Amino acid sequence: MAEHRGFAFHPSTRLGSGQRLDVAVGTEPQHFPETGEQYRGSRYENAAGHLIEMVAIASRHDPMIYHIRREEEWPAPSVRSAYGVHSPQTAMPNLYPLIRPALRLISPETAHDLTISALAVGWGRLMIDRAAREPDPPILAQRLWGLDFPNPVGLAAGFDKDARVTDAMDAFGFGFVEIGTVTPRPQPGNPKPRIFRLEQNQAIINRMGFNSMGLDAVTSRLSRRPHAGVIGVNLGKNRDSADAAADYGEGIRRAASLADYIVINISSPNTPGLRQLQRRDSLESLLERLLRARDKSGRRVPLLVKVAPDLTTAEREDIASVTLAAEIDGIIVSNTTVERPAGLVSPHALETGGLSGRPLFSPSTALLADFFGLTRGGLPLIGVGGIASAADAYEKIRAGACLIQLYTALVFAGPGLVVEIKRGLADLLRADGFASISQAVGTGHDRVATGPPVCAATRDPPS
Ligand SMILES: Cc1cc2nc3c(=O)[nH]c(=O)nc-3n(C[C@H](O)[C@H](O)[C@H](O)COP(=O)(O)O)c2cc1C
Repeated sequence: MAEHRGFAFHPSTRLGSGQRLDVAVGTEPQHFPETGEQYRGSRYENAAGHLIEMVAIASRHDPMIYHIRREEEWPAPSVRSAYGVHSPQTAMPNLYPLIRPALRLISPETAHDLTISALAVGWGRLMIDRAAREPDPPILAQRLWGLDFPNPVGLAAGFDKDARVTDAMDAFGFGFVEIGTVTPRPQPGNPKPRIFRLEQNQAIINRMGFNSMGLDAVTSRLSRRPHAGVIGVNLGKNRDSADAAADYGEGIRRAASLADYIVINISSPNTPGLRQLQRRDSLESLLERLLRARDKSGRRVPLLVKVAPDLTTAEREDIASVTLAAEIDGIIVSNTTVERPAGLVSPHALETGGLSGRPLFSPSTALLADFFGLTRGGLPLIGVGGIASAADAYEKIRAGACLIQLYTALVFAGPGLVVEIKRGLADLLRADGFASISQAVGTGHDRVATGPPVCAATRDPPS
C-alpha cells in the first residue's frame, strides 16, 4: 500500500515497463514530460455496490494503477477537501490532487506555465468536479455596474495575464475573470526566478514585473472570445515608459469595447515608481486623464482602481476621497504586500517582491473595512487577499466587499476550491438569514452606509 499525501492508495496492478496505460473510460490521459508521468482516472461500482474511484499513475520509474477505496475508508472529510478530492458520488475524475504533487516538484513558474498550457488545450475539465458545471445558487447572484454576476467569486489578476484561459476559468465556476496585468507593448518582466512558494505559510512571493504579451496580442484574443462570463481587464504601464497616464490611456482606448470592466493597477510592488501613483496629487491628475480617455473611447466601461495593502492612514483617506470625487466605479483591495508579517517560516520569506496568500488575509481585510468606512459604503469594493475558504470570503463580504477574488489559494488547493467557496458561502448567508448576498455586504460594521446599496440582488429575493 502506498502513502501519498495522506491518502491510502491500494496498488492492484503493476504495469510492465513500456506497457500502455489504458485503464479508464471517459478521460484523456494527461502527460507531464518533466516527470514522465501520466494520469488517468475512472469510477466504477464494485460487486458490493460501492463506488470506487480509480486513478492510474504511470511514471517512468514506477508505473502503477492505484485504487482509491470506497468513501468510508478514506481519511476524514476535512483532509479530503484540503486536497480537493471530492466524494465519488459527485465527482468526475478530478485528477488535480494527483497532479498537484507533480507540479510541486517543478519551479513555480514552470508549473504555472504548464498549467496555463494544459488549460488552453482543454484539460481543465479533468481538474474539476461536476459540481462546477451546476448553476450557482440564486442567493449568490448580483447586479453591479449593469452586469450580472452569477456568483461573487472572481479570479484575481496575474493568473491569466495574457487572456489565454478565460473559458477554462469560466468552466471552473468563477463568477468573473480578471485578465492582465497587460502593458501596452510586450515586455519580458523581471529576470527569473521571480515566483517563490512559501508552502508552510500557504503564501507566494512574486516579483514578475508585468511580464506581458502586450495589448495587440491580448485584445486580439479577447475579440475572438465568444461572449461568456464577465471579464475584467487589468491595465499596467511599460517599465520603460515615462508617461504612465499615456500607457493606461492607451489600454483604456484599446480595451474599452472588449472589457466588462477595466482596472487601473497602480499597486504592483514590482514596477519601480508605480505605487507612487497612489499619492493624492498623482492620482488626481492620473484619474482626470483616464476619465477623459474613457470618454473618448465612446463606451462608459466601469473603471476601477487597484490599491496596495501598504498604505498609511492619510494615503487611504486621500485615495477614498479622490476616487469618490472622480466618480471612479470601484476599488480593488488589495494587491500583494511588501511587508513581511511575523510568522513567515519559509526560507524564501525574505525574497524581494509582493507577498500574497494566507498572511495577507488580515491586513487586506482590515484595509477593505477601512475603505468601506471611508467611502461610506458608497462605492463597490472587490475584496482580495488571502481568501482560502468560504468563511474567508464571507468575512470579506461582511467587511464591505460586493465581490471577492483569489489567486494564491488556487495554487495550493486547486480549482475545486471555487465550488467549495460558493457552496459554503451560500450556506453561511442562509444561516445568517440573508436572502441575497448584497444584504450581507458591510454588515460587519456598525452601519455606515447611508445611500442605497451599491450592489443589488439580480432578482428580488424570496420574501
Ligand atoms: C504570481 C502572481 C502574479 C500576480 N500578478 C498580478 C498582476 O499582474 N496584476 C495585479 O493586479 N495583481 C497581480 N497579482 C496579485 C493578485 O491579483 C492578488 O491581488 C494578490 O495575490 C492577493 O490575492 P491572493 O492572496 O488570493 O493571491 C499577482 C499575484 C501573484 C501571486
